[in-house]
Amino acid sequence: MSEQTNETADDTAFDANHFRSVMGHFPTGVTVVSGIATDGTPHGFTIGSFTSVSLDPPLVGFLPQIDSGTWAAMAASGSFCVNVLSDQQSDLCWKFAKSDNDATRFDGVDWHAAPSGSPILDRAVAWIDCSVEHVYDMGDHHFVLGRVGALDADADHDGLPPEPLLFFKGALGGFSAEG
Ligand SMILES: Cc1cc2nc3c(=O)[nH]c(=O)nc-3n(C[C@H](O)[C@H](O)[C@H](O)COP(=O)(O)O)c2cc1C
Repeated sequence: MSEQTNETADDTAFDANHFRSVMGHFPTGVTVVSGIATDGTPHGFTIGSFTSVSLDPPLVGFLPQIDSGTWAAMAASGSFCVNVLSDQQSDLCWKFAKSDNDATRFDGVDWHAAPSGSPILDRAVAWIDCSVEHVYDMGDHHFVLGRVGALDADADHDGLPPEPLLFFKGALGGFSAEG
């Protein structure tokens, strides 16, 4: 049986830039994770680390930075909604990733409330509405585990099939099916 180890960053033979660069070779989808603060204002940030975790019970997760102001603002509500962005929503990807614009990220963005109250962004490819099951601290990130309460996909995109936005090596692109 293999043994698990907990090496610290000091034991590694590579720097943070190399780590970031190699990880950038793993393509991801792009989501905006949204929630409502205790004062009723909507908050959200661009998240690529979204993953499905379990079918029974239905669990998903994502990893915000420990010092994320957006996560701090929405955490108290105990819920969040994952919005899978379409290839027509690259502007939202950058808008919700910019720092120091927390108060204006939703300006000009059409949304309606999911059952939890968290924002569903109009014209997203899919949305997944969750209650927070547990928050684990992992290095410089939290892992937020959510229990799915409601979800839907394939909203109308003017009769066209919705296409997802993809992120690879720091750039955005689209998906093309083979065959
Ligand atoms: C494509 C893409 C994916 C991202 N994925 C994550 C992620 O998984 N976790 C994270 O903490 N930040 C991620 N970010 C960065 C955050 O969106 C960015 O730091 C944002 O400003 C955080 O908001 P805050 O400062 O209000 O917490 C991503 C950015 C981009 C462009």
